[in-house]
Amino acid sequence: MKHVLSSEQYTRESLDELFDLADKIRNDPKKYSHKLDDKIIAIMFYEPSTRTRLSFETAALKLGAKIITTENAAEFSSAAKGETIQDTVKVIAGYADAMVIRHKSDTSAMDAASVNKIPILNAGAGKGEHPTQSLLDMYTIKEKKGRLDNLKVAILGDLLYGRTIHSLLKLLSLYNNIEIYGLSKEAFSLPQEYIDMLKSKGIEYKKCSSFDELPKDLDVIYHTRIQAERFEGDFGKEEFIINKEVLNRFSENTILMHPLPRVIEISTDVDDDPRACYFEQAHNGLFIRMALLLQVLDKA
Ligand code: CP
Repeated sequence: MKHVLSSEQYTRESLDELFDLADKIRNDPKKYSHKLDDKIIAIMFYEPSTRTRLSFETAALKLGAKIITTENAAEFSSAAKGETIQDTVKVIAGYADAMVIRHKSDTSAMDAASVNKIPILNAGAGKGEHPTQSLLDMYTIKEKKGRLDNLKVAILGDLLYGRTIHSLLKLLSLYNNIEIYGLSKEAFSLPQEYIDMLKSKGIEYKKCSSFDELPKDLDVIYHTRIQAERFEGDFGKEEFIINKEVLNRFSENTILMHPLPRVIEISTDVDDDPRACYFEQAHNGLFIRMALLLQVLDKA
Protein backbone atom coordinates (compact mmCIF):
# COMPACT_ATOMS: atom_id res chain seq x y z
CA MET A 1 0.00 0.00 0.00
CA LYS A 2 1.46 3.36 -1.02
CA HIS A 3 0.88 6.34 1.26
CA VAL A 4 2.17 9.93 1.43
CA LEU A 5 2.71 10.42 5.16
CA SER A 6 6.02 12.20 5.72
CA SER A 7 8.78 13.89 3.78
CA GLU A 8 11.06 11.31 5.38
CA GLN A 9 9.85 8.65 2.96
CA TYR A 10 11.41 10.47 -0.02
CA THR A 11 14.85 10.11 -1.58
CA ARG A 12 16.56 12.16 -4.26
CA GLU A 13 15.58 9.49 -6.77
CA SER A 14 11.91 9.36 -5.76
CA LEU A 15 11.74 13.17 -5.89
CA ASP A 16 13.17 13.12 -9.44
CA GLU A 17 10.53 10.57 -10.40
CA LEU A 18 7.73 12.66 -8.89
CA PHE A 19 8.93 15.90 -10.48
CA ASP A 20 9.31 14.22 -13.89
CA LEU A 21 5.73 12.98 -13.67
CA ALA A 22 4.47 16.41 -12.59
CA ASP A 23 6.27 17.95 -15.60
CA LYS A 24 4.71 15.40 -17.94
CA ILE A 25 1.22 16.12 -16.57
CA ARG A 26 1.80 19.86 -16.90
CA ASN A 27 3.00 19.53 -20.50
CA ASP A 28 0.30 17.12 -21.67
CA PRO A 29 -2.68 17.21 -19.26
CA LYS A 30 -5.02 15.56 -21.79
CA LYS A 31 -2.97 12.37 -21.70
CA TYR A 32 -3.81 11.98 -18.00
CA SER A 33 -7.42 13.16 -18.01
CA HIS A 34 -8.97 9.68 -17.80
CA LYS A 35 -6.30 7.88 -15.75
CA LEU A 36 -8.50 7.75 -12.64
CA ASP A 37 -11.91 7.44 -14.34
CA ASP A 38 -12.96 4.53 -12.12
CA LYS A 39 -11.62 5.97 -8.85
CA ILE A 40 -13.21 7.81 -5.94
CA ILE A 41 -11.10 10.02 -3.66
CA ALA A 42 -12.29 10.86 -0.13
CA ILE A 43 -11.35 14.35 1.03
CA MET A 44 -11.44 14.65 4.83
CA PHE A 45 -10.38 18.04 6.19
CA TYR A 46 -10.74 18.48 9.95
CA GLU A 47 -9.00 21.89 9.74
CA PRO A 48 -9.52 24.88 7.39
CA SER A 49 -7.82 24.96 3.99
CA THR A 50 -8.02 26.76 0.67
CA ARG A 51 -5.05 25.55 -1.40
CA THR A 52 -4.45 22.01 -0.25
CA ARG A 53 -8.07 21.00 -0.28
CA LEU A 54 -9.08 22.66 -3.53
CA SER A 55 -5.91 21.63 -5.36
CA PHE A 56 -6.38 18.00 -4.29
CA GLU A 57 -10.02 18.14 -5.39
CA THR A 58 -9.05 19.75 -8.69
CA ALA A 59 -6.24 17.21 -9.15
CA ALA A 60 -8.66 14.32 -8.67
CA LEU A 61 -11.25 15.83 -11.04
CA LYS A 62 -8.64 16.58 -13.73
CA LEU A 63 -7.56 12.94 -13.63
CA GLY A 64 -11.15 11.75 -14.12
CA ALA A 65 -11.75 10.67 -10.50
CA LYS A 66 -14.83 11.52 -8.46
CA ILE A 67 -14.62 12.94 -4.98
CA ILE A 68 -16.58 12.40 -1.79
CA THR A 69 -16.11 14.83 1.05
CA THR A 70 -17.58 16.28 4.20
CA GLU A 71 -17.66 19.97 4.96
CA ASN A 72 -15.58 20.76 8.05
CA ALA A 73 -15.01 17.14 9.09
CA ALA A 74 -14.24 18.11 12.69
CA GLU A 75 -17.79 19.38 13.07
CA PHE A 76 -19.88 17.47 10.53
CA SER A 77 -18.29 14.01 10.37
CA SER A 78 -18.83 11.47 13.15
CA ALA A 79 -15.52 12.62 14.68
CA ALA A 80 -17.80 15.11 16.45
CA LYS A 81 -19.47 12.09 18.11
CA GLY A 82 -16.14 10.59 19.16
CA GLU A 83 -15.32 8.28 16.24
CA THR A 84 -11.61 7.51 15.90
CA ILE A 85 -9.63 8.21 12.73
CA GLN A 86 -9.02 4.47 12.36
CA ASP A 87 -12.74 3.62 12.44
CA THR A 88 -13.46 6.45 9.98
CA VAL A 89 -10.88 5.07 7.53
CA LYS A 90 -12.23 1.51 7.86
CA VAL A 91 -15.63 2.82 6.78
CA ILE A 92 -14.39 5.16 4.05
CA ALA A 93 -12.29 2.32 2.59
CA GLY A 94 -15.60 0.72 1.64
CA TYR A 95 -16.53 3.77 -0.43
CA ALA A 96 -13.31 5.31 -1.78
CA ASP A 97 -10.00 4.25 -3.33
CA ALA A 98 -7.78 6.78 -1.50
CA MET A 99 -8.19 9.36 1.25
CA VAL A 100 -6.68 12.80 1.72
CA ILE A 101 -6.63 13.92 5.36
CA ARG A 102 -5.87 17.16 7.22
CA HIS A 103 -6.17 17.02 11.00
CA LYS A 104 -4.94 18.83 14.10
CA SER A 105 -3.19 15.71 15.43
CA ASP A 106 0.50 15.30 14.52
CA THR A 107 -0.05 11.53 14.16
CA SER A 108 -3.33 11.69 12.21
CA ALA A 109 -1.99 10.51 8.86
CA MET A 110 -0.02 7.67 10.47
CA ASP A 111 -3.14 6.68 12.44
CA ALA A 112 -5.19 6.65 9.23
CA ALA A 113 -2.54 4.65 7.37
CA SER A 114 -2.28 2.09 10.18
CA VAL A 115 -5.61 0.66 8.96
CA ASN A 116 -3.79 -0.14 5.69
CA LYS A 117 -6.90 -0.48 3.55
CA ILE A 118 -6.55 2.47 1.15
CA PRO A 119 -3.71 4.91 0.32
CA ILE A 120 -3.61 7.88 2.71
CA LEU A 121 -2.27 11.27 1.67
CA ASN A 122 -1.26 13.58 4.54
CA ALA A 123 -2.58 17.07 3.76
CA GLY A 124 -1.25 18.58 7.00
CA ALA A 125 -0.95 16.95 10.41
CA GLY A 126 -0.94 19.31 13.41
CA LYS A 127 2.42 20.98 13.96
CA GLY A 128 4.16 17.90 12.58
CA GLU A 129 4.31 17.63 8.81
CA HIS A 130 2.76 18.81 5.57
CA PRO A 131 4.63 16.63 3.06
CA THR A 132 2.68 17.47 -0.08
CA GLN A 133 3.39 21.17 0.53
CA SER A 134 7.11 20.51 0.83
CA LEU A 135 7.04 18.43 -2.35
CA LEU A 136 5.54 21.31 -4.31
CA ASP A 137 7.97 23.69 -2.59
CA MET A 138 10.95 21.64 -3.77
CA TYR A 139 9.43 21.35 -7.25
CA THR A 140 9.13 25.14 -7.33
CA ILE A 141 12.71 25.68 -6.11
CA LYS A 142 13.98 23.31 -8.80
CA GLU A 143 11.92 25.11 -11.44
CA LYS A 144 13.10 28.56 -10.35
CA LYS A 145 16.74 27.88 -9.41
CA GLY A 146 17.44 24.98 -11.78
CA ARG A 147 18.98 22.87 -8.99
CA LEU A 148 18.41 21.48 -5.52
CA ASP A 149 22.07 21.16 -4.48
CA ASN A 150 24.17 24.18 -3.45
CA LEU A 151 21.39 26.31 -1.98
CA LYS A 152 21.37 29.01 0.67
CA VAL A 153 17.90 29.00 2.20
CA ALA A 154 16.46 31.27 4.91
CA ILE A 155 13.41 30.05 6.84
CA LEU A 156 11.33 32.72 8.57
CA GLY A 157 8.21 33.08 10.66
CA ASP A 158 6.84 30.25 12.76
CA LEU A 159 9.61 27.65 12.84
CA LEU A 160 8.12 26.00 15.93
CA TYR A 161 4.59 25.15 14.78
CA GLY A 162 5.14 25.53 11.03
CA ARG A 163 4.63 22.05 9.61
CA THR A 164 5.56 23.21 6.11
CA ILE A 165 8.99 24.22 7.47
CA HIS A 166 9.46 20.86 9.19
CA SER A 167 8.69 18.88 6.03
CA LEU A 168 10.77 21.21 3.85
CA LEU A 169 13.88 20.82 6.02
CA LYS A 170 13.66 17.04 5.72
CA LEU A 171 13.65 17.28 1.93
CA LEU A 172 16.39 19.93 1.72
CA SER A 173 18.61 17.74 3.89
CA LEU A 174 18.73 15.17 1.07
CA TYR A 175 20.86 17.52 -1.02
CA ASN A 176 24.51 18.59 -1.01
CA ASN A 177 25.99 21.86 0.18
CA ILE A 178 22.80 23.22 1.73
CA GLU A 179 22.99 26.21 4.08
CA ILE A 180 19.99 26.93 6.30
CA TYR A 181 19.49 30.27 8.08
CA GLY A 182 16.63 30.75 10.55
CA LEU A 183 15.05 34.08 11.48
CA SER A 184 12.06 34.20 13.82
CA LYS A 185 10.83 35.62 17.07
CA GLU A 186 12.42 33.69 19.94
CA ALA A 187 9.06 32.13 20.89
CA PHE A 188 8.85 30.54 17.43
CA SER A 189 12.39 29.15 17.17
CA LEU A 190 13.12 25.93 15.33
CA PRO A 191 12.81 22.92 17.69
CA GLN A 192 16.09 21.24 18.64
CA GLU A 193 15.04 17.95 16.99
CA TYR A 194 15.17 19.65 13.57
CA ILE A 195 18.51 21.32 14.33
CA ASP A 196 19.84 17.87 15.32
CA MET A 197 18.35 16.28 12.19
CA LEU A 198 20.11 18.85 10.01
CA LYS A 199 23.37 18.33 11.90
CA SER A 200 23.13 14.57 11.38
CA LYS A 201 23.05 15.30 7.62
CA GLY A 202 26.07 17.60 7.85
CA ILE A 203 24.07 20.85 7.73
CA GLU A 204 24.84 23.50 10.34
CA TYR A 205 21.73 25.51 11.25
CA LYS A 206 22.51 29.22 11.53
CA LYS A 207 20.10 30.99 13.86
CA CYS A 208 19.87 34.72 13.09
CA SER A 209 18.30 37.60 14.97
CA SER A 210 17.97 40.24 12.24
CA PHE A 211 17.75 40.63 8.47
CA ASP A 212 21.33 41.97 8.59
CA GLU A 213 22.60 38.53 9.57
CA LEU A 214 21.17 36.87 6.46
CA PRO A 215 23.50 36.59 3.44
CA LYS A 216 22.61 38.95 0.62
CA ASP A 217 23.03 36.16 -1.92
CA LEU A 218 20.37 33.85 -0.47
CA ASP A 219 18.81 31.57 -3.07
CA VAL A 220 15.51 31.22 -1.24
CA ILE A 221 13.66 33.16 1.42
CA TYR A 222 10.82 30.98 2.75
CA HIS A 223 8.47 32.90 5.03
CA THR A 224 5.58 31.47 7.05
CA ARG A 225 2.60 32.68 9.04
CA ILE A 226 2.56 32.48 12.85
CA GLN A 227 0.24 29.52 13.46
CA ALA A 228 -1.93 31.28 16.06
CA GLU A 229 -4.44 28.43 16.07
CA ARG A 230 -1.84 26.06 17.58
CA PHE A 231 -1.17 27.81 20.90
CA GLU A 232 -2.85 29.79 23.64
CA GLY A 233 -1.57 33.14 24.84
CA ASP A 234 -0.29 36.18 23.02
CA PHE A 235 3.23 36.19 21.65
CA GLY A 236 2.64 39.30 19.56
CA LYS A 237 2.76 39.74 15.81
CA GLU A 238 5.44 38.83 13.30
CA GLU A 239 8.40 41.24 13.55
CA PHE A 240 10.29 40.19 10.43
CA ILE A 241 8.15 41.56 7.64
CA ILE A 242 9.31 41.44 4.03
CA ASN A 243 8.42 44.57 2.12
CA LYS A 244 9.99 46.12 -0.96
CA GLU A 245 12.77 47.77 1.01
CA VAL A 246 13.70 44.54 2.80
CA LEU A 247 13.52 42.40 -0.34
CA ASN A 248 15.78 44.85 -2.14
CA ARG A 249 18.57 44.10 0.36
CA PHE A 250 18.85 40.69 -1.31
CA SER A 251 20.08 39.53 -4.69
CA GLU A 252 18.01 39.83 -7.83
CA ASN A 253 18.29 36.02 -7.95
CA THR A 254 16.81 35.45 -4.48
CA ILE A 255 13.33 33.93 -4.72
CA LEU A 256 10.66 34.69 -2.14
CA MET A 257 8.40 31.79 -1.18
CA HIS A 258 5.50 31.27 1.24
CA PRO A 259 3.14 28.29 1.57
CA LEU A 260 0.24 30.76 2.05
CA PRO A 261 -2.03 31.89 3.55
CA ARG A 262 -0.05 34.97 4.51
CA VAL A 263 -1.15 37.46 7.12
CA ILE A 264 1.28 40.37 7.53
CA GLU A 265 4.67 38.71 7.04
CA ILE A 266 4.95 39.55 3.33
CA SER A 267 3.73 42.95 2.28
CA THR A 268 1.57 43.07 -0.85
CA ASP A 269 3.94 45.70 -2.29
CA VAL A 270 6.30 42.87 -3.32
CA ASP A 271 3.65 40.74 -5.06
CA ASP A 272 4.62 42.08 -8.48
CA ASP A 273 8.36 41.65 -7.90
CA PRO A 274 9.69 38.89 -10.20
CA ARG A 275 11.35 37.28 -7.17
CA ALA A 276 7.98 36.72 -5.43
CA CYS A 277 6.78 33.29 -6.48
CA TYR A 278 4.24 32.25 -3.84
CA PHE A 279 1.26 32.25 -6.18
CA GLU A 280 3.11 30.17 -8.77
CA GLN A 281 4.17 27.91 -5.90
CA ALA A 282 0.51 27.36 -4.96
CA HIS A 283 -0.36 26.63 -8.60
CA ASN A 284 2.44 24.05 -8.81
CA GLY A 285 0.62 22.15 -6.06
CA LEU A 286 -1.92 21.05 -8.62
CA PHE A 287 0.62 19.16 -10.77
CA ILE A 288 2.38 17.65 -7.76
CA ARG A 289 -0.90 16.46 -6.25
CA MET A 290 -2.04 15.01 -9.57
CA ALA A 291 1.25 13.12 -9.74
CA LEU A 292 0.89 11.91 -6.14
CA LEU A 293 -2.64 10.60 -6.74
CA LEU A 294 -1.41 8.69 -9.80
CA GLN A 295 1.51 7.24 -7.86
CA VAL A 296 -0.43 6.02 -4.84
CA LEU A 297 -3.08 4.47 -7.09
CA ASP A 298 -0.44 2.79 -9.30
CA LYS A 299 -1.55 4.72 -12.39
CA ALA A 300 1.67 6.68 -13.00
N1 CP B 1 -0.36 25.96 2.19
C1 CP B 1 -1.51 25.46 2.70
O1 CP B 1 -1.52 24.38 3.31
O2 CP B 1 -2.61 26.24 2.47
P1 CP B 1 -4.09 25.88 2.92
O3 CP B 1 -4.11 25.89 4.44
O4 CP B 1 -4.96 26.91 2.31
O5 CP B 1 -4.39 24.49 2.41
